[in-house]
Amino acid sequence: MSYLLDGNRMILGTCYYPEQWPQDMWQNDLQRMHETGIEVIRIAEFAWNKFEPHENVYDFSFFDRFLDLCEDEKMKVIFCTPSATPPAWLTEKYPEVLNARKDGVLIRHGERRHYNYNSPIYRKMTSQLVEKMAQHYAARSCIIGWQIDNEINCETDEFYSQSDDIAFRDFVHQKYQTLEKLNQEWGTVFWNQTYTDWSEVHVPRITNQDSTNPHEVLDYKRFVSDSACRWAGMQSDILRRYLKPEDFITTNGLFNLDNHRMAQESLDFMTYDCYPNFAYMTELYDGWKEGLLDREWSRNLSEVRSVSGRFGIMEQQSGANGWTTRMESPTPRPGQIRLWTMQSIAHGADYVSYFRWRTSTMGTEIYWHGILDYSSRENRRIREVRQIAGELSHMQEIAGSTYRARVAVVKTHDNEWDAQLDRWHHRLEECSENGIFAAATHTHTPMDYLYLQAGTQVEKLQKYELLIFPHAVVITSEQAGLLEEYVRRGGKLILGCRAGLKNENGRCTMQDLPGVLRSLSGAVVTEFSPVAPDDGMMYVKWENGGERPIRLPAAEYNDLLQPDASDSEVLGVYNDSYYAGTPALIRHPHGKGTVWSYGSTFTEQTAAVFLNRLGFAEPYGDLFELPEQCEIACREKAGDRYFFILNYDKKPVHILLKKKLKDMLRGERVTGEMVLSGYGVMVLMQEG
Ligand code: GAL
Repeated sequence: MSYLLDGNRMILGTCYYPEQWPQDMWQNDLQRMHETGIEVIRIAEFAWNKFEPHENVYDFSFFDRFLDLCEDEKMKVIFCTPSATPPAWLTEKYPEVLNARKDGVLIRHGERRHYNYNSPIYRKMTSQLVEKMAQHYAARSCIIGWQIDNEINCETDEFYSQSDDIAFRDFVHQKYQTLEKLNQEWGTVFWNQTYTDWSEVHVPRITNQDSTNPHEVLDYKRFVSDSACRWAGMQSDILRRYLKPEDFITTNGLFNLDNHRMAQESLDFMTYDCYPNFAYMTELYDGWKEGLLDREWSRNLSEVRSVSGRFGIMEQQSGANGWTTRMESPTPRPGQIRLWTMQSIAHGADYVSYFRWRTSTMGTEIYWHGILDYSSRENRRIREVRQIAGELSHMQEIAGSTYRARVAVVKTHDNEWDAQLDRWHHRLEECSENGIFAAATHTHTPMDYLYLQAGTQVEKLQKYELLIFPHAVVITSEQAGLLEEYVRRGGKLILGCRAGLKNENGRCTMQDLPGVLRSLSGAVVTEFSPVAPDDGMMYVKWENGGERPIRLPAAEYNDLLQPDASDSEVLGVYNDSYYAGTPALIRHPHGKGTVWSYGSTFTEQTAAVFLNRLGFAEPYGDLFELPEQCEIACREKAGDRYFFILNYDKKPVHILLKKKLKDMLRGERVTGEMVLSGYGVMVLMQEG
């Protein structure tokens, strides 16, 4: 049984950099961590030189000394492979290990993540080091698990080195086998892009308007993801040969790659780096202030949960953000570290590790503050962490429980990548992603993300009563079949505009839309258009059983629909422009379930109408009355329910508890009207 996420305990940790502090500080630091309630540290992710100071010269004494001390002090350790920061001696001698910009200029030593995943030399040198480290350290009793690299694909997710060029060619060669097939799928007859020899195929390069063939770019994004997954796989395969059986392998953060595949192939669970204070950064604040600010991190946490039902937080905010070159932000206000920690736990984390123990006195991140400032002075933030540790001791039974949502948004990585390269698609995804999340948040409707992958079974979909697939632009007939089966068995499915447009390589279908989803949706698209800017906001009138129809925004894009089955029912029509009166919302019963086809996007208002009218909003309305400022999350275990009420506002709010519940932090049963302080948190239990 792994030390973390064992289903019995929630644990706090921190990130520590012994190589950045004088050795005579180590012991005191470890003791003080314990005294703060921290029992795990993560170390070594940027310390290659401490293991291999010169090519093929290995020296394990530095971390041996540190791990000896950890064992004396009973501190548990997550040990990292240091491949995110190749040493200067390595990149100087072998510049081919460096990443390159699209124009071929090499990304040089001096920051981090300057390597590429495909360089045979870097793969060999990393494998060698990981193997030596595993041989040397894996049996250490203080080590409980390993982190591979650090934030794979962070800083950049584009790779244009020579090794990537060669590997990309191999990747598409394997995929298509013949040039004829590649030419066909990439549509290279368009603008005379036909390839006549494999040597002509490259990673996307500089083109006139940077509008490189979209089918090629889609494959390139898959290639980068594949490279990252193989990178983690290479290291994981080595580690597995040496690890103690109970030790885990993880990596941290979600950065534009198929994290689901990476986790399945190479990790025991995913960990995430959670920095809600980004929302208060000076340079981004204007963009955020109309939105949900730090509550947005609940969305990220839901993404992590989709990758790994059990997960941990490897880096949790504990001070102000800041690089010397960017990211100015305030220090978390009193209560915010606790609020954000509980946000992570509410969403399913059973391990939370603060970044970092003490603020660095050198380098690019001197303003990325840890629990302590530069000196070791006792401060408000360490007191808050101590308080959290105390509170967790009253919440231990929550460990191993599962986040509960009745609603999920369906996604695929192909759609995500297509929306990154296709501006039309991007607009829709952005609008609906934000709208649905905001509507769910403000109506206190817990929500999951569900990714369709190769091999996804219908049972995974059946965990949810309602699925929303906002824009199934890229979709295969297998995926359509899976959705069909879900609905046939009783599921409810909402589809938005542009469904069924593209095949898996991003080519548009010549079938009537929604293409492979047509029979399921019982609707057909007769015409379509982006909303004309001079038309302003379009609206749909949703008939409301005799009462005044509900008006819902139909922003960005409008599919003009027509019923396509005898049992399809038009529920709403556009009320503006030349298509006023044309169906915009069609309901189609299918098997035991129902599909709603909506010809547009889901703004917050639109999504809220759907959640309310279909009966999914406020699922805990019988227990609580909460203001918009509060999030509610529910974790369940063995019939017991644990509710987290999180107040993201700086001001106190009034909440109403309609039944008697156990307040886990205060250890008493509570009911009635209550005041929740600014940034306050309540954890309540309802016995099954
Ligand atoms: C994370 C990274 C850490 C540190 C932190 C603050 O993305 O993993 O190493 O850089 O951000 O910038």
